[in-house]
Amino acid sequence: MCSIIGYSGNENAAPVIVKGLRRMEYRGYDSVGVATESNNHIELKKGVGKVEVVNSKFQLDDLPGSIGIGHTRWATHGKVTDANAHPHPSNSGKIAIVHNGIIENFDELKENLKKDGYSFQSETDSEVIANLLQKNYENLNDVKNTMIKTVSELRGHYSFIAMFENGQLAAARYHEPLIIGIGKEKYFLSSDVLGFIEQTDDVIYIDNGNFVLIDQEKMQILDFDGNEIKPQITKVSKEFADVYKGDYAHFTLKEISEQSETIFKAGETTKDSIKKSSDYLKNAKNIYLTGSGTSHNASLVGKYLLSKYAKIKSESIIASEMPFSENIIEPNSLLIALSQSGESADVLEAVNIAKKSNCKIIAILNSLTSTLARESDCVIGMNCGPEIGVAATKSFTSQLIILYKIIQELSDEKMVIDFQEISSSISQILMEHNKIKKLANEIKDISDIYVLGRGIHYPIAIESALKIKELTYIHAEGIAGGELKHGPLALMDSSVFVIIINPGDSTYQDTLMSAREIKARGAKIIGISDKSSDVYDYWIQIPKTHELTFPISETIPIQLLSYYAALEKDTDPDYPRNLAKSVTVK
Ligand code: G6P
Repeated sequence: MCSIIGYSGNENAAPVIVKGLRRMEYRGYDSVGVATESNNHIELKKGVGKVEVVNSKFQLDDLPGSIGIGHTRWATHGKVTDANAHPHPSNSGKIAIVHNGIIENFDELKENLKKDGYSFQSETDSEVIANLLQKNYENLNDVKNTMIKTVSELRGHYSFIAMFENGQLAAARYHEPLIIGIGKEKYFLSSDVLGFIEQTDDVIYIDNGNFVLIDQEKMQILDFDGNEIKPQITKVSKEFADVYKGDYAHFTLKEISEQSETIFKAGETTKDSIKKSSDYLKNAKNIYLTGSGTSHNASLVGKYLLSKYAKIKSESIIASEMPFSENIIEPNSLLIALSQSGESADVLEAVNIAKKSNCKIIAILNSLTSTLARESDCVIGMNCGPEIGVAATKSFTSQLIILYKIIQELSDEKMVIDFQEISSSISQILMEHNKIKKLANEIKDISDIYVLGRGIHYPIAIESALKIKELTYIHAEGIAGGELKHGPLALMDSSVFVIIINPGDSTYQDTLMSAREIKARGAKIIGISDKSSDVYDYWIQIPKTHELTFPISETIPIQLLSYYAALEKDTDPDYPRNLAKSVTVK
């Protein structure tokens, strides 16, 4: 998954495009490029690195002309090289394209194009689009018919923007996002509204299987058969514009720090949906939860909450495992899909599988305009504002709050959950960041960290290990307390650190025992608990609160520890290597 952007208007296109690309870097950031058209000629610059780096090296924003396209890449086909960066020109240089997604039949298309005399400069699947467009354009001499023919030949998941040397832009959407922004005498095409939000909040979400034509005079939307579609303009929330770091050094730190506030917003704009979802839950035959990465870890917490507080049995399934878990979904059941972006390909596929079995879908997501939102029967918004840091932080705690609100709605004599208390706990822990910073320095050279928890704290242990991996590149593993003696104990020696998640609830004594067993093998222990103990080499104190507050309180110090350890290791916490925020390919 990558970001694509196009601009046609009355200003210099390149600086506008570079600005948009900076904002969409969360989608992929291994290379970047821009192409513009001026005087019926296409100029192109691209290279390996983040937008800032490549722009200062090549001055992408100096390219001439008021029409252009741009791209940030997350490599799927072909290594991270200058040649594989987008845009890709066609052989004649008269067309250039940027692409997000995967062209499944690119090998076959490439072979056919080679037979016709076309050559290829990159290892990407994307370059075939440029040459296929050229071939079809030379035969048909018309952009509309060229697009209809080209999309009929492509297989896979894609959105792409093509720029022709006469300054026409054409873009197609097939299972990857594509949005038009409409400004005064200017149009934007983009993977995300963040690409143009400073310029306009009037947008059109292009439907799957449609394409767009933009020239100096007009903008047209058509389906893949060439029938014109009436555009539906919607306004996006200005809140999206809040994508600055402010005084924070990194988005990740900003997003960790915002959590004492963002938890209040979870589910707020979609209050009725909490009620609706609890009705679905009461009546469902079987209940499944799904998600990827951090969202899957939240779904594991959801499973515990439903059984403990609402006496409802459910099953949590990793989204990417759904296609391989045959017969796991009973027909006419309920699937709760969790996703910050609402665009993760694995989650969308899981939803698709469940819908084929006639299941109802509840979506817990941040982006209310995402594909998942449109695919679901009931949508609950996290409302935590844009999360730019690739490692999920505030979206995780917002997901937990929504799950709390659902079980509160389900409980017979309305459980009292003190959200103010949760917020105060977060603030209290955030004030401890100097202590956590020091600890980060201690762990920076460690090669293995284990995180142990029991019951509802086991998913938190898994999520904590994920945060450590993503941000510090240190090998980390979540362990279910009782499983220690069934294997992991063999790994314990003086070279490892173990984080023990040990709040004073029903798991406390057993987990303390596990800590002692580990300590006896020489490993260093970091205890996260409201109670001190001599077994901890380092104690991170969390406030003593209601048991439901603990999972959130435990999460915050590990987010901070991972962030500060990333700084110690001189890695970029906002953009971990090889990862991307929203994985829209399988
Ligand atoms: C990527 C991100 C993770 C995120 C996962 C699921 O792998 O790097 O941080 O948890 O996708 O994303 P979603 O938007 O579906 O929650």
